[in-house]
Amino acid sequence: KILILDFGSQYTQLIARRIREIGVYCEIYSCECDAEQVKKFAPNGIILSGGPDTVTSGDTPRAPQIVFELGVPVLGICYGLQTMAEQLGGKVESSDHREFGYAQIRARGHSKLLTGIEDHLSSEGYGLLDVWMSHGDRVVDLPSGFSLIASSDGAPIAGIANEDKGFYGLQFHPEVTHTKQGGRILSRFVLEICGCEALWTSSNIIEDSIEVVRKTVGTDHVVLGLSGGVDSSVVAALLHKAIEDQLTCVFVDTGLLRLHEGDQVMATFAEHMGVKVIRVDAEQRYLDALSGITDPEQKRKIIGSLFIDIFDEEAAKIADAKWLAQGTIYPDVIESAGSKSGKAHLIKSHHNVGGLPENMLLKLVEPLRELFKDEVRKLGVELGLPADMVYRHPFPGPGLGVRILGEVKKEFADLLRQADAIFIEELYRHDLYDKVSQAFAVFLPVKSVGVMGDGRRYDYVIAIRAVETIDFMTARWAHLPYEFLDLISRRIINEVPGISRVAYDISGKPPATIEWE
Ligand code: XMP
Repeated sequence: KILILDFGSQYTQLIARRIREIGVYCEIYSCECDAEQVKKFAPNGIILSGGPDTVTSGDTPRAPQIVFELGVPVLGICYGLQTMAEQLGGKVESSDHREFGYAQIRARGHSKLLTGIEDHLSSEGYGLLDVWMSHGDRVVDLPSGFSLIASSDGAPIAGIANEDKGFYGLQFHPEVTHTKQGGRILSRFVLEICGCEALWTSSNIIEDSIEVVRKTVGTDHVVLGLSGGVDSSVVAALLHKAIEDQLTCVFVDTGLLRLHEGDQVMATFAEHMGVKVIRVDAEQRYLDALSGITDPEQKRKIIGSLFIDIFDEEAAKIADAKWLAQGTIYPDVIESAGSKSGKAHLIKSHHNVGGLPENMLLKLVEPLRELFKDEVRKLGVELGLPADMVYRHPFPGPGLGVRILGEVKKEFADLLRQADAIFIEELYRHDLYDKVSQAFAVFLPVKSVGVMGDGRRYDYVIAIRAVETIDFMTARWAHLPYEFLDLISRRIINEVPGISRVAYDISGKPPATIEWE
């Protein structure tokens, strides 16, 4: 297994995902971790990430010295290379010449890391690599024992190696896809230089998790809040496989779910897989609680706290439930470790269900804690969940509650569900669903005039929204084909009585958010 020390690069998680894709387990620790933590992890190799700081200033982070004393290979990337060079006696300088974007590097000499990996060959027979650079500082003196293994115009020292010790440093980023041979370079490091075996596969992960879960919960009973979202669905499938009847899922149907969603969740889990699921029909309670409420944040709070009340009531009915299962995934864990709270589960519980009551007295079991989202999805497929459930767009916890602007009414939710279903159905049919990151309809409680046949209509408005994004922090509106938008508009207005107008949302994030409330 590989330990990744994080110096704050935006690419650190990407490094981890690449290593996992190679089939090797890895974890990310803060660069401020101590020698004991590193020893305890017992890595077969260590990767030092990039970072925003400069090693030319004395108060910026350094790798714990143990990294260079453990006797395992080390790969420094960008800032990781610079701090390695500096800590081992080399020299790094700030340079006015910032290099950002594509660059071509020339492999030099013979190195275990790069030899034989190239995009082109130079006329003299050197390997040339197209890589992604992003740096200001550069190494100007090699530490003793190191040799030069790559250079570029902007960075004469773009790669260094101490083959005896297995220490390597690269100025470019092998983890980003712009570096075409990046995957091969990382594979070379992890499999050949560190000698790791590619054992981290979905079926192994499932087997291991099942064993861990069984050991952890013994004969106790486990409760899980099933939402139909990817994470809780995969937890349900996994726990069912591990402990079968000891698992009870509580599925709260808030009345704010998408068309037929409740029935689909029941069909998949209860009928098809034989999971014990308690479906709570809470539509009326939600409508009552939300009646007269128009403020988005207040709506969110009400929806979240009602969920907890209902979940609590149901969990209390399950005799001898000792464990609460949660779909916490690795990015949630890293996020909270980064904030040094050390309480990973709090973030997710807040995120998912609005915070769990302190008096629940249930112990937590989180079988996806070590996994990235793409790994969770693969696990879901391997566990037999339908692919469209596993690859579904994200759906916010408050559901249609934040897609009906202002006060939530059943009539509005029903209209919105129909319009949304038409939009999603056509996205699938036109092979556009997977090309956008999130798509949905929004209900606007304003009336607009229309004409249909000889009659005048005075009905509500639906906005449709589709965005493309990697991280949901920024997004661009999807440039869906006009003919497609035309079809959506005609279908919604013709088939959903009560809607007389459809608008397409062409706002990016920022300044708009993805959801309308
Ligand atoms: P915004 O609207 O903030 O959305 O641009 C970013 C992503 O987060 C989802 N979202 C939520 N998810 N509870 C959730 O679980 C919420 O209250 C919530 N609000 C927004 C949104 O669907 C998008 O994917």
